[in-house]
Amino acid sequence: MANLVSTWSKTTQILPENYIFPVDERPGSVEVPLCQNIPLIDLSQSQSQTVQEILDACQEFGFFQVINHGVSEDLIDDTMKVVKEFFNMPDEEKEKLCSIDPTNSRKFPTKSCKLYTSGSNYANEEIHFWRDNLRHPCYPLDEWVHSWPEKPTNYREIVGKYSIEVRELSLRMLELIREGLGLKPGNFGEELTGGQLLSINHYPRCPDPGLTLGLPKHADPNLITVLSQGSVYGLQIFKDDQWLGVEPLPHAFVVNIGHQLQIISNGKLRSAEHRAVTNSTKDRTTIVSFINPCQDTIIEPAKPMIGNIVPRFRPFKFKDFLKIYAEKKGDAEAITKVYKIQP
Ligand code: OGA
Ligand code: NI
Repeated sequence: MANLVSTWSKTTQILPENYIFPVDERPGSVEVPLCQNIPLIDLSQSQSQTVQEILDACQEFGFFQVINHGVSEDLIDDTMKVVKEFFNMPDEEKEKLCSIDPTNSRKFPTKSCKLYTSGSNYANEEIHFWRDNLRHPCYPLDEWVHSWPEKPTNYREIVGKYSIEVRELSLRMLELIREGLGLKPGNFGEELTGGQLLSINHYPRCPDPGLTLGLPKHADPNLITVLSQGSVYGLQIFKDDQWLGVEPLPHAFVVNIGHQLQIISNGKLRSAEHRAVTNSTKDRTTIVSFINPCQDTIIEPAKPMIGNIVPRFRPFKFKDFLKIYAEKKGDAEAITKVYKIQP
């Protein structure tokens, strides 16, 4: 794949024009402060305390970090190592391992394990994102693991273990959220959690980080996201018209609410917009696990969340939401408008 940014950017000191974002979208030269208020939640404390902290975090920020989460530090380190090794392999090797269709279109993938560069449709984009992206489904593992890269040789074993543990952690957090919302046990069952996608972002060091983005402003289309950002800073969240930096904490996971959980909670929980910036000195690799509803699942505000008030969103099938998400290029306001019931 000739256009992988990690490959050609090694030999250039200049940011190509088609990577330069419009003035109002680019990060610019003003430094975004690391936010000390994004909640850091210790999962080893009492359950009632955790439920309260998670619910507060989901309402105020839509984001939090977790520690003492039960996923071993060695597994996190090994996974980060093996995904970095993947991106360091020669392009020919990577091409053999993944399906790369000529349009580089995520909308119509021909194979389940795919390597992309930039966004959802490279060929039709005006501006490209400064990232390469490997993504594959993970759940149930037996169904998908054979489509994953065969190299590095321990990729499947390590990433398989990681995806199982991170899925379990995600379900555990959904249970705590369910309790906090006062929903009945079983509310986040297989229909809502039957899909898991692993998305590995690789953002090479960039000659001009102020002008471009690894990922532009978006909210995630899924239920809940668990992200491992390693030790390199780059994630920012948008709150009260300001960008806030999320501090990389060793072995912590960053958790955020996706559009689906915002809608199920009738807007009580925030699906916050966020973006990834680049930097000029270090490559940055992030491992993102998305828990998704099944394609045909109907999503709507949970009855107990509505009570005597009216639902704020109309029902829809998850797969139809994904189409709208792609059409609107992740623009949270435009997407929400499609599903919002106007008062
Ligand atoms: C994403 C995402 C942020 C990051 O993959 O949806 O927001 O820091 N990633 O890589
Ligand atoms: Ni995201």
